[in-house]
Amino acid sequence: MSDELDRELARAADALRSAARVCVLTGAGISAESGVPTFRASDGLWEGHRIEDVASPFGFERDPRLVWNFYNARRANVRTVQPNPGHHALTRLEARWDDRFAVVTQNVDGLHRVAGTKNLYEIHGSLYRTRCTGCGEVADRGLDALPELPHCHCGAMLRPDIVWFHESLPDDVWTAAVTSAAKCSVMLVVGTSAVVHPAASLIPLAKRQASWDHVRRPAIVIEVNMTRTEASDLADIGLYGPSGQILPKLVDLLDQPA
Ligand code: APR
Repeated sequence: MSDELDRELARAADALRSAARVCVLTGAGISAESGVPTFRASDGLWEGHRIEDVASPFGFERDPRLVWNFYNARRANVRTVQPNPGHHALTRLEARWDDRFAVVTQNVDGLHRVAGTKNLYEIHGSLYRTRCTGCGEVADRGLDALPELPHCHCGAMLRPDIVWFHESLPDDVWTAAVTSAAKCSVMLVVGTSAVVHPAASLIPLAKRQASWDHVRRPAIVIEVNMTRTEASDLADIGLYGPSGQILPKLVDLLDQPA
């Protein structure tokens, strides 16, 4: 690791040591080292597929089989992967802060849960779950293979319980995510390009840039990513490299005396 990264790691550990509450926002990058493709890389999911076709309500109306092919392939991929040291490092962090710690994830792969994170808000849904387009029932089906076009016991077609483009986020989960971001004293932003809203708006919220919130001190934002992103200008500390290496290093540092 470079001297610059070592210095930033030490600053990040200091910030965390005095943090009352910690909120972590994660994106596809944290699962990249597990073997889950990200979206916006040159070989990412959105290079091979059109968002409107496979991740929008209109696409599903037009061709549900195509959409289910896409999600069944993603479910099959996730069946073969495991959490990486980055996910496990966050579980170690949670053990220090307990219910004053939360992970807000845009990922639908369930790897934070498998790693043992408890205070977890999956704001974009989960590949594990289906939702009935008729009766609305949400069911956890694990990752077992589903029929090409799965149907509910009520007869209607099932859809993945994923938040698609042009859809709103589930109220309860989103409210919990906003609360965690608004209250935190340190926010870790890990492996996200920070271009998709409202998820990315949690970062200015933590920085108290909302016009109504001048009361509390701004959170310290620590970005962990391979490269600079849309979030970098808001970050106080930048840790640039693979999160599967950076996060365990950060937690190890925290475990050492200051
Ligand atoms: N460690 C850290 N960061 C990484 C790693 C890694 N090993 N590998 C890739 N990254 C970073 C990339 O540099 C990029 O900034 O992860 C980010 C992935 O960005 P996106 O592919 O845009 O994924 P994400 O930010 O999660 O996308 C947000 O967009 O398409 C929708 O609903 C989908 O939840 C998703 C949302």
